[in-house]
Amino acid sequence: MHRRGRMERELDVDAAKYTSSLHFDKEILESVILVNIAHVKLLEKAGIIPSDLAERAEKHLQGMLKNPPSLDDPRYEDVHMVIEAELTKHVPQIGASLALGKSRNDAVVTAIKLRLKERLLRLHEVCLAFCDALLRKALAESDTIFPVYTHLQRAAPATFGFVMHSYAIRVLKALQHVKMLYELVDESPLGSAAVAGTSVPLDREYSASLLGFSRVSQNALESTASRDFIVEALSCLTLIMLILSSLSEELVIFSSEEFALIEFPEEFSATSSIMPQKRNPVVAEISRTKLGELLGLLTSATVIAARQASGYNLDLQQITPKLWQALEVVEETLQMMTKLVPSLKVNKDRCMRACNPPTGVVEVANYLSLEHKIPFRDAHAFAGRISKLLYDGKLDEASLRKTKAEFNIDVPLELDDLMVLMEPTRVVHSYRTVGSANPALVRRAVEDSMVCLEDERRWVRDKRVKLEYALNKLKGQKS
Ligand code: ARG
Repeated sequence: MHRRGRMERELDVDAAKYTSSLHFDKEILESVILVNIAHVKLLEKAGIIPSDLAERAEKHLQGMLKNPPSLDDPRYEDVHMVIEAELTKHVPQIGASLALGKSRNDAVVTAIKLRLKERLLRLHEVCLAFCDALLRKALAESDTIFPVYTHLQRAAPATFGFVMHSYAIRVLKALQHVKMLYELVDESPLGSAAVAGTSVPLDREYSASLLGFSRVSQNALESTASRDFIVEALSCLTLIMLILSSLSEELVIFSSEEFALIEFPEEFSATSSIMPQKRNPVVAEISRTKLGELLGLLTSATVIAARQASGYNLDLQQITPKLWQALEVVEETLQMMTKLVPSLKVNKDRCMRACNPPTGVVEVANYLSLEHKIPFRDAHAFAGRISKLLYDGKLDEASLRKTKAEFNIDVPLELDDLMVLMEPTRVVHSYRTVGSANPALVRRAVEDSMVCLEDERRWVRDKRVKLEYALNKLKGQKS
């Protein structure tokens, strides 16, 4: 083994276990094998190892893709040592050359980037499916009157479709970060060796293209020892989780008996073991906790990355599993919410009641300003008094007349006119600015978002085809 020159004694069994990454290396097992296949090809191209042996080694490594070696032997520090040992058993000359010009430091980060690229494509697709569910719901509920809140106080009549579309747009924006991240990690560190590059004549461009990377990294110290990209990935995942968490929070609140604006689907609810009347929105409750988990992962990765001098330290190893854990949590939650969104039901009576006067009372002020040139502040004060009368159950012909006189509103405005101005359906149809909750405008906006979704689908298809083409070749498969 690689210790025998420098060390006399074997690593303590507990120390080996304590420092090993084997238990989370499974995620990069395939990528590490691919990195080794690429490296063997490079050594062959450089004339360092003979073609017949290189070919045998490649076949062997390809075989490992189908029959992966066990990662359970605690004598090995990590997956890299397992692969080297496995290959050495069968093609000893090449096994012994596997670390020529290649360190675990550049190999591991290359494998992480390779695997992350695949995971980002999957994340992108899972986000797309969620966005699609939101957009379909937005379209289906574009006419369903629903109150929207500021300060958790009824603020304006809108529609449930409008609310769903707001989440779809947030997801579409988050997708831009996923794509940026993909471009960021689409560079191969292989050939950087341990920290400063190598004197072995390796064609880095060639190994990058074999592994489906679009470029090579430019500084060996940076590429072997920086995990900034993992912190960025975790930030991006936290952002996605934030969106999911706020949706979940909203669903919990709106489905509570106090609000009762939506019906949380039974298939996603639990009941209480003691209180038979309960219908607990457990899926949303669990989903909103995941933001806390993500923040924990982001925080620990950031702190680990920050507390070390440049150049590889084994601290870096501990950052990697945070990334895979976070991806798991976010994907799982996205899939759960994609399933849940279509079965959300709106309680139309309750929503209409929540939107009834005075929720749309600003329209009274708008009307007075736009149609009768009354300064908005004065109109606003009058509308404010109208809302108070409504809340107190004291609005009638007489109190209206008195209020108009008190606020100098000298225009023909009867009680019926007032109620029509505030009528929720009329209000939402009167919204005219781009991005407003007018059902027709929401439908148009949803259609625009669907076009964006199509562009996103094309992007991910394109990237997947390119990546799979390269990797299938390396795996020795036809694509
Ligand atoms: N298991 C390590 C990791 O995941 C691989 C690199 C180890 N390098 C070293 N010089 N000990 O980061």
